[in-house]
This record gives sequence, C-alpha cells and structure tokens, in this order.
Amino acid sequence: MALPFQTSLTKKRSLAVAIDLGSHSTKGVCIQRRGSGFELLGYAVQESPPNDQQLSADNLAAHLKSVAQSLGAKTKQITLLIGVDHSLLRHAEVPMVPVADLRLMLKYSSKNYLQQDLPDYVFDCHVLPPRAGSNAAEPQRTQKCSVLVGGAKKQFLDLLQEAARGAGLITDQVTPGLIGTANAFEMALPEAFTKEIVALVDIGFNHSTISILMNGELRLNRVVAIGGHKLTGSLAEAMGTNYAEAEKAKLAMSDEIQAFMLGLLTPLGRELRASIDFFEKQEDKTVTQVFVSGGSARSPFIVEALQSELMVPCRNWNPVSFLNLALPPQQMGEVEQTSALLAVATGGAMAAL
Ligand SMILES: Nc1ncnc2c1ncn2[C@@H]1O[C@H](COP(=O)(O)OP(=O)(O)OP(=O)(O)O)[C@@H](O)[C@H]1O
Ligand SMILES: [Mg+2]
Repeated sequence: MALPFQTSLTKKRSLAVAIDLGSHSTKGVCIQRRGSGFELLGYAVQESPPNDQQLSADNLAAHLKSVAQSLGAKTKQITLLIGVDHSLLRHAEVPMVPVADLRLMLKYSSKNYLQQDLPDYVFDCHVLPPRAGSNAAEPQRTQKCSVLVGGAKKQFLDLLQEAARGAGLITDQVTPGLIGTANAFEMALPEAFTKEIVALVDIGFNHSTISILMNGELRLNRVVAIGGHKLTGSLAEAMGTNYAEAEKAKLAMSDEIQAFMLGLLTPLGRELRASIDFFEKQEDKTVTQVFVSGGSARSPFIVEALQSELMVPCRNWNPVSFLNLALPPQQMGEVEQTSALLAVATGGAMAAL
C-alpha cells in the first residue's frame, strides 16, 4: 500500500533508509535488496526532540543527521514516516477521477469528503479495489470509488523538507506511520495479511492506534489517546511516586506493578474493543487475531493483559522477521529486543524498495 503525501520516488530503490519520527523515540532502518530477498543493514533508536511549538527545522535537522549517521547508510535519500499528531488517515467515497484531481478536490473541499475543514493540508489517495455488489454498472460520470486518504499539514511537511535539507538528506517520500505498520505486516506475515481479518495495534507514546485488515485491505483505523506516557503517568499517581520512578517500575514490571497495570490497561482495552465491535457489527465478520507493536509490546505482560480485555488472541510480532540480518555485531544481539519498535520504519523502507 503506497500513500505518500509527498513523493519524488520515480523508481524503486535497491537501498532504502526510512525514519519513523515517533513522539518518544525516532527509529530508523536501512534495508537493502539482495537477490530475491532483503537485508537489514542497520537500525537506530534515538530519543526524539521535544515535539512542540518550538520544534525548529534546525533541531530536527541535527536529529535527522544523527539518526542517519548512526545508520551508516550509503544513501542520502530517505523516507520519513509521521505519526497521528501530524497526519490523518481516513476512508472516503469520491468520484472516480484520476488521483491528481482527487488531491485537488480534497484540498479545496475537504469538508465534502472528510466532513472536516482541513485548510492548509496536503492529501494523497490510495484507490481501493471495488467490492462485490459495488456500482460497477453505473455510468462512469456518476461512479464513485472508495479511497484511503492520507493528509498532513503543508507547514509540517515544509518543516520536514527543510530539516532534511539541513541534514544533507533528500526526502523521497513522507508517509503516515500507520501505512508503514501495515506494509511491514504484509511482508512479515503474508498469510495472515491476505487471508485473515486481523487488527494491528500500535501502542505508542501519546497515542495508540488500531488498524483492521481484511483480506489484505486496510478497512478501519482509529486513534486512542492512551499510550505508554499515560500508563507511566497513571502508575506514578497510583504508586505515589514520580514519573521517572514509575517508568523504571513499569519496565521492571514486578508482580506488585502488574496488579496496578491491569487496572490502567482497562481503558485502553475498552477503546480498542469498541473499534473491533464497530467493525464486526458493520461487516458481520470476526477479528481473529490482534498483533501488537510499539514500545509497550515489548512487555509480554501488557500484551497478555490486552488479550484478556479484548477477548481475542493477542500477540506481539517481529516486523523484521522476513529480513536477512546483516547487522553490525552489537546490533545482532539486541535486534530481537528492539524489533517491536521497528514496524513503522521497516514498512516505510519496504515501500521504497
Ligand atoms: N519493555 C517495556 N515495557 C513497557 N513499556 C515499554 C517498554 N519499552 C518501552 N516501553 C514504553 O513505550 C513507550 C514508547 O513507545 P514508542 O517508542 O512505540 O513510542 P513512539 O513511537 O515514540 O510514539 P508514537 O508512536 O505515539 O509517536 C514509552 O512510554 C515506554 O515506556
Ligand atoms: Mg510510534
């Protein structure tokens, strides 16, 4: 699934660098095509610069440069993936016209198609295949099609371009992170991607996201305003301690902390379950498995607790499992621990390859 807001990628590359600008940490990967397979040459995880009004092109440039350097990539071209703070992803019914025209239509009348005024946004569309029983017999002029619309503020995209230039890099594509996760999942678990109805849950820092995939198509996505930050904050309150101590306790996850965490995960579980219920009711189909990624997916306890809340088998997954590892020695030992963080970046790189 390709859905960049901005792309200058005219042909597929043999070496791709993708950088996922998370709100807590930035993750980068460098992947190379080799024969009929792909190799992971390196990855990087670095704390993100504060993502607020003060985020300047200079700060971001220094950060991108540092991530690119630690990847040691022999290319200046990068794909950037941006999160739900800076992008949106929606389904819409639109007239059947070329994508270039759709982008303009959305720009000038987003309210008509997305029920929201979104001035200063840049859009891109991915046309979804027609469903059985759709309006194929209607005359072309009145025909509508379903599209997945990605949007991001032009001002933010300009900031990214300026920062990349400042870092001596060239942005090939800017893509919503959710698309990256779905692309990585398609590569890592192709059977489940094409044949099953699954939910991909990414537990991020300020938000979590859920995407429901049915037969290889992204059918629903929702954002929940609960992530690792809120879990730590609520744990600090419950323990009567500060944030840093609570973060340490959360990572150690003793039996006592587990008891606290169960209660703290309930609201997240409920919100995710509500999205699954909505989809199941609308489609009269059942979600069979939930695949969890993001920092919190490194905790087997959190994944298990979500499973009891969602009442659907939940598991974490390894988004780099389909890659041959050609990593520097110190990364070889750590990649398994880190892989839950790399879904978005890996999918971004694969779209460029
Ligand atoms: N082993 C672990 N157990 C529990 N939580 C963890 C663990 N490792 C990381 N986290 C949590 O993951 C969170 C960061 O997740 P992640 O790196 O996926 O966020 P992000 O991608 O930067 O944010 P976003 O996707 O929302 O922009 C932090 O709150 C951290 O506490
Ligand atoms: Mg993230």
